[in-house]
Amino acid sequence: MIKQITPEIKYVGVDDLELDLFESQYVVPEGMSYNSYLILDEKVAVMDTVDARKGEEWLVQLEEALGGRKPDYLVVQHMEPDHSGSILALTQKYPDVVIVATAKALVFLGQFFDGVQFNTLAVKEGDTLELGAHTLRFFTAAMVHWPEVMVSFDTLDKVLFAADAFGKFGALSKCGYFGEEDDDWACEGRRYYFNICGKYGAPVQVLLKKVLPLAPAVIAPLHGPVLRENLGYYIDLYQTWSTYGVETEGVFVACASIHGGTMAVAERLKEILLAKGCPKVALADLTRDDQAEAVEDAFRYGRMVLCAASYDGGLFSPAYSFLHTLQMKAWQKRKVALVENGTWAPSAGKVMKEMFGAMKDVEIVGEMVSIRSRMKQNDLPALEALADAILQ
Ligand code: FEO
Repeated sequence: MIKQITPEIKYVGVDDLELDLFESQYVVPEGMSYNSYLILDEKVAVMDTVDARKGEEWLVQLEEALGGRKPDYLVVQHMEPDHSGSILALTQKYPDVVIVATAKALVFLGQFFDGVQFNTLAVKEGDTLELGAHTLRFFTAAMVHWPEVMVSFDTLDKVLFAADAFGKFGALSKCGYFGEEDDDWACEGRRYYFNICGKYGAPVQVLLKKVLPLAPAVIAPLHGPVLRENLGYYIDLYQTWSTYGVETEGVFVACASIHGGTMAVAERLKEILLAKGCPKVALADLTRDDQAEAVEDAFRYGRMVLCAASYDGGLFSPAYSFLHTLQMKAWQKRKVALVENGTWAPSAGKVMKEMFGAMKDVEIVGEMVSIRSRMKQNDLPALEALADAILQ
């Protein structure tokens, strides 16, 4: 689907509605978009390619958008295959095209396309590319989300081509190319951000400090809708997310239960927290719900209670896997409270304490509640006290 963004800039990306798992790990029930853009000036620039899964469809669409012209440049902002997968197909069709990328991206280009000779132009921080009326200015964006990444700023129309930043899960035919049918960008924008870039808050901050003073009028990411209205809303969210701030007041209760006993505790705790005036309590079943969504909620709220069963002398694996992911994503600056369950020798709490203890600025509050098999009447005072501790 070709969409006009400004008089000379077009959206030429593609949707993928058949993808089962993005990055072979994230469910995308609304599909995924691989965004690509075209600047038709005296010189013609293509901004990134698309996943090879959709390369053929993209090339047909690109040819139509080119209207008989040929691209002079292919700007490669990010070499991850969801964007670089159709580079070879493009250069085979347009052999004179010059690939513009950072030096590191050109190294990765050689790794992905071993033995292929490309026409290349390495650019670095602050370099510009004159297209005619349009000038692209490049800013390195290392670790947003790979080390070779750069973003590009069109100085004429003030379009920020933001690479993976400001992206979102979901196909554009579902949410609108400019997000016009999207009533909750943050829902999938947040799940995308924390699971893809969550670890890289500091590099995201570095990037924001470089590009926000340019006052972009349009943000054109590599996934998700083109943002051109109310940009302050998205930028404010990115400021909160990349500084590991609290977005929503409330408590996230995460639970890994084997036979339902631990889940009964988590549900009771949710009732207690609400009764004590907690503005919002989100409850996730780590055994069945999307763990990427649980990771998102762990970052969204400032407080978390983890309720987990013991297993094989350790921690039930869905909880272990969740904590391992939080460690990888640099989860930090949060308060946690713990509930363990075990029938003969509860062992979950020890592992949870060790894993949280290895995280930065994570404070374990209150007395861990240890349940034997099933919650009993005499466990309730300890649960009440735990709720008070996490709310304090
Ligand atoms: Fe959309 Fe990091 O690739």
